[in-house]
Amino acid sequence: MNATYSALLERAAPLFGRDAAWLAGRVRGGVVDLLRDDFAPTATQRALDTPLTAWLYDVVRDRAVRSIGMPAFPDEARSVCERLALAQGDVVLDVACGHGNFTAEIARRVGADGLVVGLDIAGAMLARAAARVARERLDHVLLVRGDALALPFADGAFAKANCAGGLHQMPDLGRALGEMARVLASGGRFAASGFAQRGAAPAGWRGVAWRRFALHFVPVDELRTALRRAGFADAVVEMAGRWFAYASARRASGST
Ligand SMILES: C[S@@+](CC[C@H](N)C(=O)[O-])C[C@H]1O[C@@H](n2cnc3c(N)ncnc32)[C@H](O)[C@@H]1O
Repeated sequence: MNATYSALLERAAPLFGRDAAWLAGRVRGGVVDLLRDDFAPTATQRALDTPLTAWLYDVVRDRAVRSIGMPAFPDEARSVCERLALAQGDVVLDVACGHGNFTAEIARRVGADGLVVGLDIAGAMLARAAARVARERLDHVLLVRGDALALPFADGAFAKANCAGGLHQMPDLGRALGEMARVLASGGRFAASGFAQRGAAPAGWRGVAWRRFALHFVPVDELRTALRRAGFADAVVEMAGRWFAYASARRASGST
């Protein structure tokens, strides 16, 4: 482990309520691995966790989203960063960071005085994120393998949290949002973007697929309600096209 990475672990350790040695003992391939051994991925989660699918996602993501009328990555990233009101020095969590596209963009914006933690369950996606971070020499980014439904961080650890393209994969949306609220400081900003739909959850074959694969378009009314219940205030959920939405909110003061 080189001195730069050791210094990063020292800076990040308080976010976990641990010391740097504890984190260092869990580093594998540039990622702090904190995923429970008995974690059982859904079919959708498993599908993205192979070198081939992670590579494919990395290569085709931007073309694919544009072809189905979703925002191009630079536009989505700009909107997300505006919703987070990113500033130099911010300490930011990027949940479901995948191959690290948003993690890297956020890290460039908060600068070397900031600290960005990218978290994902998929080792294959995180391997691509680690390569990206090394390529771009983003020494203030820590990558963590962990589950959004049981975040390995202390209460109120982060000033800001992002979840792009991840909420539709969460088998328990309320619990994932509750965890993100828990690790945000009071008043901390939250942003999300991804597959969404107006109206209720689907019935019929789409409903079956939803339950079987835990992959779905998040109904925007359900998302607004879930944000409020999770402890967020000032929630704004806006459709941007037919199947995509942006969300933003603040961690309500005094909520638990
Ligand atoms: C569609 S990719 C999004 C990647 C990137 N944020 C983007 O917008 O391009 C969804 C990511 O969510 C991750 N994911 C799904 N469920 C998760 C969970 N419970 N905890 C953490 N990450 C999760 C997957 O492994 C995958 O990398």
